[in-house]
Amino acid sequence: MDESRRIVSVEEVPTDGTLLFTVRSGVDTAEAILTRLGDGSVVAFENYCQHWTDVRLDKGSGALVRNGEIVCQKHGATFEQDTGYCDFGPCEGATLDTIAVAVEDGDVYLADDEYEFERLGPSGEYDLSSGSRIDFSGT
Ligand code: FES
Repeated sequence: MDESRRIVSVEEVPTDGTLLFTVRSGVDTAEAILTRLGDGSVVAFENYCQHWTDVRLDKGSGALVRNGEIVCQKHGATFEQDTGYCDFGPCEGATLDTIAVAVEDGDVYLADDEYEFERLGPSGEYDLSSGSRIDFSGT
């Protein structure tokens, strides 16, 4: 696997929440969320609700995950944690946009050819709170 596409170790991905990361496609960045399922596999979705697409599911500290469902805290839509399918709420029947990831040797890699891995944490667009950037580049 290409090290530049490594996101995080599997163990760091919560089962009862989500981990926020940022991907890049050309000059555009997008936020995505990772979550770990009961069987140890990991899935990723783009970080916005299917009801109002300007509403983020994870605002930086993890989305609410309850009973195997990701919950949008705006109007309470619930999305199946494994598929992203909305089974309750104003966008019932819609599905979160999936981002392909792969696990190898205990690490999660971005497997979606459409994107490059940018960093863990929010995209700069939302990074207004502390003024500090999370930098995992090690340089
Ligand atoms: S914005 Fe998510 S349920 Fe309305």
